[in-house]
Amino acid sequence: MSENSTFKALSAPKGVPDYVPPASATFIAVRDEFARQARLAGYQHIELPVFEDTTLFARGVGESTDVVSKEMYTFADRGDRSVTLRPEGTAGVMRAVIEHNLDRGYLPVKLNYYGPFFRYERPQAGRYRQLQQVGVEAIGVDDPLLDAEIIALADRCYRAVGLTGFRLELTSLGDNTCRPAYREKLQKFLFSLDLDEETRRRAEINPLRVLDDKRPEVKAMTADAPLMIDHLSDEARAHFDTVTATLDAMGVDYVINPRMVRGLDYYTKTTFEFVHDGLGAQSGIGGGGRYDGLMAQIGGQDLSGIGFGLGVDRTVLALEAEGVTLDGVERRVDVFGVAMGEEASKRMSLLIDDLRAAGISADMSYGGRGLKGAMKGADRAGAKFALVLGDNELEASEVAVKNLAEHSQTSVALDAQAVIAAVASTR
Ligand code: HAM
Repeated sequence: MSENSTFKALSAPKGVPDYVPPASATFIAVRDEFARQARLAGYQHIELPVFEDTTLFARGVGESTDVVSKEMYTFADRGDRSVTLRPEGTAGVMRAVIEHNLDRGYLPVKLNYYGPFFRYERPQAGRYRQLQQVGVEAIGVDDPLLDAEIIALADRCYRAVGLTGFRLELTSLGDNTCRPAYREKLQKFLFSLDLDEETRRRAEINPLRVLDDKRPEVKAMTADAPLMIDHLSDEARAHFDTVTATLDAMGVDYVINPRMVRGLDYYTKTTFEFVHDGLGAQSGIGGGGRYDGLMAQIGGQDLSGIGFGLGVDRTVLALEAEGVTLDGVERRVDVFGVAMGEEASKRMSLLIDDLRAAGISADMSYGGRGLKGAMKGADRAGAKFALVLGDNELEASEVAVKNLAEHSQTSVALDAQAVIAAVASTR
């Protein structure tokens, strides 16, 4: 027994998922496809720090939100500065745009990012403490056509990975001219109800959140509550009408949900969420919206912006729920070398190296396995071809190329170019 075996095996922190093969292939495929779609729409990658000054999120995301008040991973670093693991991406993008003067150039600035975000939430299926998003932000132009672009892009991202069982919910949260009056009207309505102490307090801080209360008695009481969408200013109304008309013309389906409440405070005007019914309680697979005051709040110009964050973890779960497998994700390599004997193995390792240099994904059996064991390796790798090299082939300076899908076999010269030609012809 080694000394180490007396230690208890460790597990990942609570609520933090590992993505190990083969599931990791789906994770990467989803993330990369989302990012590819963003690039297709002209968004450029921005790589941002995973932690920032705590002030950024307090100011940017809003102190009244659960995300800031209860869920941040905040700690003092060794220099006694308060830093926070990013709970979301928009505030950091804004900070970087201002810091690097991107907002002084051509507008809109169109940026794409992906990576881990951290929220100290109560873990459950689909709700993690380290979550992964792909996001985009278009900053500096308040054009409803841009809202439609962003929403259509999110919709296309899901469809591109084969997801179909989702719904797009849409609303407008109004602007500076109509929101304050609506807020007052809603508060007046809520204060006339027989609400418990905590809900009253919520109505004071952010009355919209009461409309999102899931308790049946509160739902019943607020059934006739005034809704923002019925009290939009002429400008906000016209903006929203253009967004919906453009989505109609693009063939993007949506439902209006005037009671939508997002978890972050910065939203104004167009706001949306993608919901999947196969996920149980954590049904939000992505969401976003316009944020008129955010940049000024972080200390920049008073420019508008709009963006989204798509949940990669939940999209992977939604694909599983729909029984969708992505093309080719089970394939680790295209070609797998099966060599018997020391000399054949050495020769195979050179051949495999040549294939990789030619851009063909390839691996081989190691550790002196027999034919059966080595062929199992080819199978496990999901390879299209096995290259078989034993004493007989070596002697004849040939290698057997087995097409594993078609169960056919040919022999070619033991030479990288000949093998590349053989696998390329049917690839
Ligand atoms: P969010 O709605 O807080 O928005 O998060 C976006 C997506 O991230 C959610 O729809 C969900 O799929 C995923 N997500 C959030 N929390 C968790 C969690 N605990 N576990 C697993 N997945 C989670 C934002 O973060 C905004 N920054 C999006 C945005 C960009 N708005 C404008 N620009």
